[in-house]
Amino acid sequence: APEPATLVVFGVTGDLARRKLLPAIFGLFQGGLLSSAVELLGVGRQEMSSGEFRQFVAEALRESSETDEIEEGSLASFLETLAYRSGDLAGEQVYADIREFCEGRGTSNALFYLSLPPSLFITVSDGLAGQGLHEQTDGWRRLVIEKPFGRDLESARELQARLTRHWQESQIYRIDHYLGKETVQNLLAIRFGNAIFEPLWNRNLIDHVQITAAEDLGLEGRAGYYEEAGVVRDMLQNHLLQLLALTAMEPPAPGSPDALRDEKAKVFQAIGRITPEKADEVAVRGQYAAGTLYGERLSGYQDEEGVAEGSRTATYIAVRLEVDNWRWQGVPFFLRTGKRLPKKVTEIAVVFKRPPLSIFPNVERNVLAFRIQPDEGVSLKLSSKTPGQEMELREVVMDFRYDAFGAPLESPYSRLLLDALTGDASLFPREEEVMESWRIVQGLLDAWEGQGQTERYTSGTWGPDAADELIGEDRRWRRL
Ligand code: BG6
Repeated sequence: APEPATLVVFGVTGDLARRKLLPAIFGLFQGGLLSSAVELLGVGRQEMSSGEFRQFVAEALRESSETDEIEEGSLASFLETLAYRSGDLAGEQVYADIREFCEGRGTSNALFYLSLPPSLFITVSDGLAGQGLHEQTDGWRRLVIEKPFGRDLESARELQARLTRHWQESQIYRIDHYLGKETVQNLLAIRFGNAIFEPLWNRNLIDHVQITAAEDLGLEGRAGYYEEAGVVRDMLQNHLLQLLALTAMEPPAPGSPDALRDEKAKVFQAIGRITPEKADEVAVRGQYAAGTLYGERLSGYQDEEGVAEGSRTATYIAVRLEVDNWRWQGVPFFLRTGKRLPKKVTEIAVVFKRPPLSIFPNVERNVLAFRIQPDEGVSLKLSSKTPGQEMELREVVMDFRYDAFGAPLESPYSRLLLDALTGDASLFPREEEVMESWRIVQGLLDAWEGQGQTERYTSGTWGPDAADELIGEDRRWRRL
């Protein structure tokens, strides 16, 4: 269990906090993983009394689909521990109030969670430091920062420089919630907890890797953020590249807390940057147009509230990357992600080469697929003889489903919050990883922003047709 601490959540009335963070914190509390020694202090713009804040939290918990089943007694005790402060984050007062609150508690340990738009990260970091809240004289102080870390390589460096004026790198926890997903961690378990995969895991037997993160949702009222971000900053630079790194990395040395992050960083270093001239050759961008999904007629991105007329913001990307090292030379990694696709599904598929000489017709490639969500599991596609006189082969699937464990999957935010509270940073991307991933995608930003055409795709389809050309004639995207 974590030590006593104050958990300060900035932006506590925002969308992320309501939908994900508060349910995760409550889940930890209800599960007995946060003793009452961890107290939550919410910080927001709105003025609210403690009573109003508690009511707000209770409603958020009841509304979020992420909340575990609520046990009324636990909810009542949880609400009792909550406190709230409001203020202007650009001023000083709110930080003085936070300091006073922290000082009034029996511990000086504090975790500051910035569930805020990136434009406020520096303001809050400076504000906290102005009150000495970064100093670790008689307890620890940590900063959790939501993605995206910066908006390009240059601003990420600037952000890093501004943060490290006050905070040490070891105090900074950059959150990428994909790393907290059970199924993402299972990728490591399957790769390194079994001896049979390692000999296959390289250019000799693997034809290519496909990583898909499809979403059925559209903007969900987040135009203000999304118009600024777009799919490259929202999903590719962080979640998808992290999945790639975990798939491609070398086994980390045991026992070293930094080994995992070192190995991921090495993968990024081996990926060449996409030059702006090459952007349209190695990547396809798209934006959703009106269409039908689950029988419902939905409007296009251009008609969403808050989207600028003629916006080029991409909501879909497919990209081909190569990891230039001995293990992966010549093996393409195809990544795709988009909004308003036919369904929500995230998968990493390792596609093997065909047998060197086929004595049967129609021999397909084997595929080892890690289903990250939903219907979580791992499957292996093989060719098998069908019953009968003929030697006829058909694809069959060996399937492991998480349901088999009969236990619910933990929320990634719960896992990561607990890690941050206990000081385990291994699942939080380190500075080099973030800078390297910006370096990789910077060319796409340079080539696309304010330039060229973003092709439209109909909502409820799998994105622009050009993505099929990108993957090549002899390969096809998985039908998910
Ligand atoms: C967030 C993005 O980081 O990840 C959202 O900002 C996206 O746009 C979300 O919808 C997807 O996360 P998950 O866990 O639902 O796959």
